[in-house]
Amino acid sequence: DLSVGRRSDLAGKHVVITAGGTREPLDPVRFLGNRSSGKQGVALAQAALARGARVTLISANLEVAAPASADVRLVGTALELQAAVTDAAAGADAVIMAAAVADYRPAAVRADKIKKDDTGDTLLLELIRNPDILAGLAAAGQPGQVLIGFAAETEPDADRLLALGRTKMARKGCDFLVLNRVGWTEGFASDRNEITVLDRSGDIVCEASGTKMSVAGRILDLIA
Ligand code: CTP
Ligand code: CA
Repeated sequence: DLSVGRRSDLAGKHVVITAGGTREPLDPVRFLGNRSSGKQGVALAQAALARGARVTLISANLEVAAPASADVRLVGTALELQAAVTDAAAGADAVIMAAAVADYRPAAVRADKIKKDDTGDTLLLELIRNPDILAGLAAAGQPGQVLIGFAAETEPDADRLLALGRTKMARKGCDFLVLNRVGWTEGFASDRNEITVLDRSGDIVCEASGTKMSVAGRILDLIA
């Protein structure tokens, strides 16, 4: 049991966790989405609850059940997630951005279903950039609040993966960045994860591999 010996080291703390993947509507029946299952974010919520924290879980289309004792806020799109996490983050002790946020959303949401007869053999979609929620939280910077980002990368080479993580860390301005490799088979749907955590200066402060629950414990150790 991962919480043995530190069962209450987050007692009285408020931890906000975003989990899952956002979906950006295209028309009334379709969306642009990603393959995030929400398992790592839910494991973080379970582990934080087990250590005594009060947990607000911002749930974006989770494929797994949310813990019953978390305060769950359901969101669909990146803009909804931004509103919910910005609200919940006020006064929180830690914010963990585990959700996979859509980088772009359709420029216009059609009121009616897109029909093949109207579009022909090719369909061009215009997308516009979503705000960087994590960078916005970092810029708003609440004193004493620990802000954790994730970085999902497909880069196979370990050194280049680390370099990507350091660049991303510099761009985000969070306290810790959890770097993990994703791909067709790695990361998303799996019950296991392999992470490298960077601090603000890009130094490695934790390397862990194992179940998403054990990885969650290591991430919470940094917060605690
Ligand atoms: N994130 C965010 N808002 C966005 C996109 C990402 O807050 N619009 C957060 C994610 O929740 C994650 C971190 O930023 O904690 C990194 O997400 P990632 O997709 O790896 O990085 P991006 O900055 O979007 O860069 P890219 O996808 O181009 O690698
Ligand atoms: Ca992204």
